[in-house]
Amino acid sequence: MDNFKIRLIEIPEVADGEVRLAAHLFSVDPYMRGRMSDAKSYIAPYQLGEAIVGGLIARVLESKAKDLNVGDYVMGRLPWQEEMVVAAEGLQKLDEKIAPLSYYLGILGMPGLTAYFGLLDIGKPQKGETVVVSGAAGAVGMVVGQIAKIHGCRVVGITGDDEKKDYLLNELHFDAVINYKTTVNLEKAIALACPSGVDIYFDNVGGEISDTVIFQISKGGRIIVCGQISLYNATSQPVGPRILQTLLARSAMMQGFTVNNYSARFSEGLKALSGWVSNGLLKYKITSYKGFDSLPEALMALFEGKNLGKLIVEI
Ligand SMILES: NC(=O)c1ccc[n+]([C@@H]2O[C@H](COP(=O)([O-])OP(=O)(O)OC[C@H]3O[C@@H](n4cnc5c(N)ncnc54)[C@H](OP(=O)(O)O)[C@@H]3O)[C@@H](O)[C@H]2O)c1
Repeated sequence: MDNFKIRLIEIPEVADGEVRLAAHLFSVDPYMRGRMSDAKSYIAPYQLGEAIVGGLIARVLESKAKDLNVGDYVMGRLPWQEEMVVAAEGLQKLDEKIAPLSYYLGILGMPGLTAYFGLLDIGKPQKGETVVVSGAAGAVGMVVGQIAKIHGCRVVGITGDDEKKDYLLNELHFDAVINYKTTVNLEKAIALACPSGVDIYFDNVGGEISDTVIFQISKGGRIIVCGQISLYNATSQPVGPRILQTLLARSAMMQGFTVNNYSARFSEGLKALSGWVSNGLLKYKITSYKGFDSLPEALMALFEGKNLGKLIVEI
């Protein structure tokens, strides 16, 4: 918390092609932690003293842009500010009639697209296969599991909380869910939940959980390296890829990706996701914090597992 400072700033006048926005829903995401380090990554680090930038849904308060009117809701990559003046170009106008606004930050936004392309394009799930997903009750994980069910797979989730486990089993109909915090022998629990091995592992967390799952990968298995949240706060990296020999022996495929690799196909992903949401095949959960000042606490909550589904901050 001490690393954040809230400042009062002047908001400039609105010029042609610009809008003045009031923040409404902030997206809080694990990748933000990675941008708080200057380690080399696929995305540039945040700069000290500058506002954090991320997904934001905002209401238009004043407009000098031809396609946006006062009262419209827009989404963009915008700073953590309560109010701002920005160029209208690059903002996406949202339609509340299609889905609740918060869905555009979750299932019909970056996390939903990550689940869709990661699982379908890299994992290529086949009917009857077993899919294990870690971070299963999060914004990405809960969509992965449901899309795998739509494709006729057996789905095993890994989470760190019994309430989340109940939700995944009872509401989303996962076939088995393991609580990694209370399970004494994770290896045995995975073997019991996956009697015919792990055909696809969708990795959101990395570390020991992934190490344990990957040792049980099936011949021809696919490992989708989506996130490594268990390592984001680590001050030194664990040594040695213990699992590589296993990949070799099982001819298993492991691939990392970022959702932006698929930007040219986002409309295809959104069409499929919206279809599944509107016919009830995909359900979604939002965990919401209230008020601008709660942004740092909300970011921390991701690393303490306090969210079920997509974490947002509502103004
Ligand atoms: N490749 C891409 O383009 C892309 C795009 C989006 C997200 N991601 C990655 O995908 C992962 C999930 O993102 P998300 O937005 O859906 O977040 P999320 O799962 O909604 O939130 C994070 C969750 O991670 C779990 N977690 C936190 N610390 C952990 C630890 N040490 N070990 C195991 N689990 C831990 C917690 O759930 P529990 O209560 O179950 O522990 C927490 O609720 C992240 O690693 C993120 O960086 C990648």
